[in-house]
Amino acid sequence: MNEPSSSQSLFDLPNAPKFERFTALPKFDGVPALVLDVPESIPALGYGSHQFFRYYGKFPSLVGREIISAFSDADMGVLDNYSGSGTTQVEAQIAGRDSYGIDINPLAVLASNVKTAYQDARKLDAAFDLVCRSAAAIAPYEIQATPSDRLRKWFSEESLQGLGRIRAAIDELEPGDEQDFLTVCFLAIVRRCSNAHDGEVRPHVKLEKKPRPPATAFREKYLDMVDGLRELDTMRPKSIKSKTVIGDNRTPKAYAELLTEPVGLVVSHPPYLNSFNYFNAFSLEIMWSEGMTNVWQGWTLRDVTGLEQKAHPATNGRLVESYYRSISEASAQAFEVLRPGGTLALVVGDATIHGRLEAVHRNVWDSLKTSGWRPEAVWFRTTHYGIGKYAYAHRADYHGEAEKKDAIMFLRKP
Ligand SMILES: C[S@@+](CC[C@H](N)C(=O)[O-])C[C@H]1O[C@@H](n2cnc3c(N)ncnc32)[C@H](O)[C@@H]1O
Repeated sequence: MNEPSSSQSLFDLPNAPKFERFTALPKFDGVPALVLDVPESIPALGYGSHQFFRYYGKFPSLVGREIISAFSDADMGVLDNYSGSGTTQVEAQIAGRDSYGIDINPLAVLASNVKTAYQDARKLDAAFDLVCRSAAAIAPYEIQATPSDRLRKWFSEESLQGLGRIRAAIDELEPGDEQDFLTVCFLAIVRRCSNAHDGEVRPHVKLEKKPRPPATAFREKYLDMVDGLRELDTMRPKSIKSKTVIGDNRTPKAYAELLTEPVGLVVSHPPYLNSFNYFNAFSLEIMWSEGMTNVWQGWTLRDVTGLEQKAHPATNGRLVESYYRSISEASAQAFEVLRPGGTLALVVGDATIHGRLEAVHRNVWDSLKTSGWRPEAVWFRTTHYGIGKYAYAHRADYHGEAEKKDAIMFLRKP
């Protein structure tokens, strides 16, 4: 491991305040242990393309940055096999590393690819103008093609019409980077144009909510994404490859279609036990993406929900067993694609089940130690904005529960 200095990391952002990001702890099971402190606010962590798509349970950008800084090789790729919305890939790109991602959620995969694509700003603006003009011209009756019946619970007639027009106009674009960018922009505004509570992970109707008008939300989101893209272009070198695919990380197939050579670092950030299942959390966006081939790429909702590593409810013993088994299987696949001496960075958090602590990090560590990995280091992370503070106190409440830990565990392939 390249030792991070105590007051500064290799990747400190320009003008970042200097503070002790790392502090040493007594050894953990014989390996060096540090605390990684991430006191930045969510907006401060949302530089570049990180803020394109709100993804539940993502880790702070600086976590990806510090892992890459300490454990990636200059000349080898980085893979995230639970890649979610692509935080690792964006950070790898900023660090000049090729990156790869696998996730079972097609929305996340599209977002990851859009966040790391090099866009042509002029073409993007032209596509955006075209979508805005076509959306305004589409007659309401043509929106019947959208799955509006199921959506009526969540959207007012006005929101349904507005979103339906934008969606229909995006469908008319040529497939390619601009269509993908605008699809992410569209899916990113779905929740705020709905009656669903913005602060909760799983959608619940909030009667007093005032949904955002779709045309305004779409325009604002577009401008915001373009700003992020401009910022990212100042941070990343040109032509750094990044590719993310839809796949089940427990099987060799997804890796085989993605990688042609070993990687130097694999980041794995499984869903947190007892938190939520991803397809439930994104049910509104999934309804609106139905039939979009750039999102689904030949997969069906049934395929992907069947392959998802379920995290909730952990009161079901069989689910807990299969949760741990999934992590072992995905780690075994990571082992196969790493170069000898390469690192697995496993980001896991503890859970409470019926008020009892489930020390997920310790259980996973103990199991990997006996599966051929060489234990290297552990970082425990703090995040001041409340990582792990899920919407429901009974599921996971980090406040006042000192023993529950968020850990990043580093293991090497011998
Ligand atoms: C905690 S999130 C990762 C978030 C990511 N680090 C980020 O910053 O956006 C866990 C991810 O695991 C994915 N996942 C669940 N089961 C999977 C499987 N069998 N194969 C691949 N990904 C899976 C979920 O879709 C979810 O995106």
